[in-house]
Amino acid sequence: MRAPLLAALAAAALLATAPARAAPDNFDQVERGRYLVTLGDCVACHMSTSGNHQGSQGFVGGRPIETPFGNIVTPNITPDRATGIGTWSADSFYRAMHEGIRPNGARLYPAFPYNYFTRMPREDTDAIFAYLNTLEPVSNAVDRNSLPFPLNIRASMLAWNALFFEPGEFRPDPNRSAEWNRGAYLVEGPGHCGACHTPKNLAGADRDSRRFAGGPLQGWFATNLTGDERTGLGAWSADEIVEYLQKGRNARSAASGPMAEVVEYSTSAMTEPDLRAIAAYLKAPPTAAPVAPARTALAADNPQMRTGEAIYVDRCGACHTRSGEGVARMFPRLAGSQVVQQEGSETLLRVVLQGVRAAYSPHAPTSPAMPAFGWRLNDDETAAVTTYIRNAWGNAAPPVSAADAARMRDTLRDRP
Ligand code: HEC
Ligand code: HEC
Ligand code: HEC
Repeated sequence: MRAPLLAALAAAALLATAPARAAPDNFDQVERGRYLVTLGDCVACHMSTSGNHQGSQGFVGGRPIETPFGNIVTPNITPDRATGIGTWSADSFYRAMHEGIRPNGARLYPAFPYNYFTRMPREDTDAIFAYLNTLEPVSNAVDRNSLPFPLNIRASMLAWNALFFEPGEFRPDPNRSAEWNRGAYLVEGPGHCGACHTPKNLAGADRDSRRFAGGPLQGWFATNLTGDERTGLGAWSADEIVEYLQKGRNARSAASGPMAEVVEYSTSAMTEPDLRAIAAYLKAPPTAAPVAPARTALAADNPQMRTGEAIYVDRCGACHTRSGEGVARMFPRLAGSQVVQQEGSETLLRVVLQGVRAAYSPHAPTSPAMPAFGWRLNDDETAAVTTYIRNAWGNAAPPVSAADAARMRDTLRDRP
């Protein structure tokens, strides 16, 4: 373990001074690190504010990460000595990933998902560190303290960690298959899927009793990933999960918003065996899933449903079809759709008001787009048509109010 590490550091030190990069002699470790960076989706958060994610630009930081408490700006993790992690050791890198503590002892905020990365063994964080050290150092100083008082005091994270965080590497379950354990590692470790898909308590920590039950996220709704048939992945086959993660869409759904980024920078570049392992784990979770509330559909003669149906036929049916079945891999099906029936309507309102473009994936390069309706439908009409698709064709989900639509319109005004 130690020898390759020293070699990595030596190579990294050399590379940090040499402008022309020769193949490092720890090539295998660096390649493993490159793949782990893909698994951990580091680029989606650490890329430059310009959206450039090529080479070092994927790691220069500056992107604000939205949390319920305010925005937290990502730091520069290129090997620049003054503004990046160029002076860090592999030990201090492991400590940051494993415990959320910087070399100077300051606590990191869990907007950096170290509560998931803590599952990575030392050899994995060493490989990431070796890879990051092969990047061109780029000088980019970012403002690290954008949170309001008292959260701007990093010591407040001490209490948070004591309450909600337990560092610890992943331990495989000997009663499960190697594939399942690989999936468990990917989902609970580098992939940090629960960071978005598990609802949060008031302190912003995962509600473990509601694991993967889905929740609002940055003006979207991260879907239920439990085995629930109506709102979760119960009806999805393992193949369908793999296809979605690889291509950003399948016959049931299309990834938008934050999930489109996860697909673009992370899951579309995962190996097929790793995607299968994730699907195996999601289809057989380690603990009983929280039960989703039972729902009955609104009656078809409900006034909101009648208005909504008329708007749907007029504005939406041409693409999604009158029966809500859509056109496979082109126009997502809305009948029986999990996305459409989530507890929270954030994603639907957003898609209808703002339109949406499908995730980019090299496996599915042409992205169909959905036009924006925000300028054609008022709040009542927007609420009616979303309520309709949530309760037509056998769907059942809470109705949406004009106030919900107005709130989303406000939210979108502040965001591009
Ligand atoms: C969901 C967004 C997100 C993802 C994904 C993410 N990070 Fe970060 N990372 C952050 C934020 C935000 C901070 C700053 C936290 C703070 O200032 O307290 C941070 C901080 C760090 C730090 C501490 C740097 C310093 O100077 O304090 C390191 C190291 C780091 N990330 C590495 C990584 C690596 C490696 C990956 C991929 C395996 C990764 N991050 C993935 C958001 C993310
Ligand atoms: C940055 C936040 C984020 C992360 C991390 C994330 N997801 Fe998602 N995911 C979302 C959002 C938001 C949606 C809903 C997207 C939509 O409605 O188009 C979603 C949707 C999905 C869906 C589609 C569900 C459906 O019913 O349509 C699957 C499957 C999924 N995610 C799996 C995963 C897995 C597996 C991981 C970890 C490797 C993961 N997600 C990590 C935010 C995230
Ligand atoms: C021009 C064709 C078109 C029209 C008209 C249209 N849509 Fe869409 N819609 C799409 C496409 C394409 C997507 C998928 C975008 C993507 O891949 O994320 C989509 C996605 C959606 C989604 C997200 C589904 C999911 O699984 O993530 C919903 C909900 C939706 N549309 C509802 C509507 C409603 C309601 C209307 C009418 C107000 C409408 N659409 C009109 C093409 C259309």
